[in-house]
Amino acid sequence: MSKGTFYITTPIYYPSDKLHIGHAYCTVATDTITRYKRMCGYDAMFLTGTDEHGQKIEERAKAKGVTPKQFVDEIVEGKGGILDLWKLMNISNNRFIRTTDDYHVEAIQKIFKQMYDKGDIYKGSYKGKYCTPCESFWTESQLIDGKCPDCGREVHESEEEAYFFRLSKYADRVQALLETPGFLEPASRANEMINNFIKPGLEDLCVSRTTFKWGIPVSFDPDHVVYVWIDALSNYITALGYANDKYDDFDKFWPADVHMIGKEIVRFHSIIWPAMLMSLELPLPKKIYGHGWLLIDGGKMSKSKGNVVDPLLLAERYGVDSLRYFLIREFPLGSDGNFTNEALIGRINNDLANDFGNLVSRTVAMVLKYFNGTLPDEREPAPIDNELIEMAKGLRDIYEQDMDNFQTQTAVIEVFKVISRANKYIDETAPWVLAKDEANKARLATVMYNLLETIRITVTLLQPVIPESCEKAFAQIGADDKDRTWDNAGTFGVLRANVTVCKGDTLFPRIDLEKELAALEAINTKNSAPEAPAPVSVTIDEFAKVKMTICKVLECENVKKSDKLLKFKLDDGSGTPRQILSGIAKYYKPEDLIGKTVVACTNLPPRKMMGEESNGMLLSAEKDDRLNLLILDDAIPAGASLC
Ligand code: ME8
Ligand code: MG
Repeated sequence: MSKGTFYITTPIYYPSDKLHIGHAYCTVATDTITRYKRMCGYDAMFLTGTDEHGQKIEERAKAKGVTPKQFVDEIVEGKGGILDLWKLMNISNNRFIRTTDDYHVEAIQKIFKQMYDKGDIYKGSYKGKYCTPCESFWTESQLIDGKCPDCGREVHESEEEAYFFRLSKYADRVQALLETPGFLEPASRANEMINNFIKPGLEDLCVSRTTFKWGIPVSFDPDHVVYVWIDALSNYITALGYANDKYDDFDKFWPADVHMIGKEIVRFHSIIWPAMLMSLELPLPKKIYGHGWLLIDGGKMSKSKGNVVDPLLLAERYGVDSLRYFLIREFPLGSDGNFTNEALIGRINNDLANDFGNLVSRTVAMVLKYFNGTLPDEREPAPIDNELIEMAKGLRDIYEQDMDNFQTQTAVIEVFKVISRANKYIDETAPWVLAKDEANKARLATVMYNLLETIRITVTLLQPVIPESCEKAFAQIGADDKDRTWDNAGTFGVLRANVTVCKGDTLFPRIDLEKELAALEAINTKNSAPEAPAPVSVTIDEFAKVKMTICKVLECENVKKSDKLLKFKLDDGSGTPRQILSGIAKYYKPEDLIGKTVVACTNLPPRKMMGEESNGMLLSAEKDDRLNLLILDDAIPAGASLC
């Protein structure tokens, strides 16, 4: 029987670039919590998607010479795109929304109109500092060192006719909401919102644009497109069927139990989104959870720094579960964490291969060796068993508390404490010694059973994090469906007495740390190498703009204090001698060139070199250390042009 519904969301991601490990972090954490809730018996709805409108996408598409829709289609649905990534990462979302989906577009137009009709959206004019990458207007006082407070990039002055949302009207109610314990977590973020945004006075929010086209048109004023945050935030309700007919489980799942988001978009989710819902007279989400960032060398990942970590690559190299485990185990969800390849491989080797994988493979191997794979009925408990049994029995309650508080890291640490305890239990009971005497058969069977039961409980609780590996581990210890349930994770003694184990593949092979680090380093260097410039092609018209003139050398001398430059006086057919400097002193004696017929580019802007002006450039041919001035037949007169 269902314990009730649970509605959880990730942000909808911008399909402006390939997603990186930071996006995977947020999505894996959300997936882990969802799977946990499903295991507990909730009817969970997990929504993710993509936020496809806005100026940045429009610009990216233009630069690539495709339409914005073509551009986002490729990043969302193309090979190695966002859908592929989530599939590979075993993300169990129930729904995927794209803000370009028809039903969403239709719903946004209705939502905007509804707020307008209510008087909560009005027309005005906006002047302010705009950050294009963040699609945010900022007031002077919000800027940090004159730059965007979110991303630190340049902002520019911008003014336009626009619609505004009466955010100020809801300031008191939003403040009360932020002060409600548990609404915004971690709690420190609530104080930050109140002090930085509510206390200085909430200003009305600009919610439409006329300066770009790639957005949802305001139905009653189509020169305006809906500003992306109204468009984006509403995804959480349109994907349930609010203001559209595509879905019809809004009543079932709304309000959301939790919106999982990164810390930089807490402002939008904890202030603007609730105010929008107040305007729409809808219930408010129960919780906003603002997780931290994954950093590289203590700083933000960015394409320009060349330190973007590709989750597809890591998952393909080490397996999806290794990556999922690492993301959950290494970082406390609420704070920032530093990503390193060493830490990733260290977790795989120490936790997954040594502690967990080894416990399973040793136990299965011993049951095979000592009992041919099937435990006998006889048992002989001993006091030394009690500590392990108590720990394993009590694990589920501790884990439940952590998970319910979004302490995914701590929950996993607790599971691994029991795994370590079980490994120690093997050393304490020394089954290989017991096995030497047939009289110890019942005792040995008891030790094996206790190990299998401990594995069963820990694997049950690891399912939300590493689902595929847990399947394999269950098969190895002979657990059937009923052995894998949440209810049975709180009980010791669930596996049948004469359970049969089954040898399987190594769950997590060890990785050669040094070799892998070198391999990753090499891949990284290759990926961050500057792209070779595209071969330039010129049109015939462009080429024709270059003026090449035949000249006779009237005078030629060395430039003082320069061992490179020769100074030429040339007859270019115009009647006025032309002065050109050329860096060929190494190759020619000035006196040898007087009277020669040469070619010069004569429509370059004048240039000063060593205090002398040069009006053009002499053509020569060069390879390695050889150089030849282009010298033509004397029959061609000065002023002729190259064709
Ligand atoms: O903000 N570590 O989209 P987005 C952890 N479209 N999380 C990270 C991260 C990192 N290094 N980098 C990004 C948007 N994220 C909007 C959301 S919701 C109605 C609209 C997280 O693709 C980031 O914190 O820029 C955010 O929660 C999410 O990825 C989406 O970022
Ligand atoms: Mg509906």
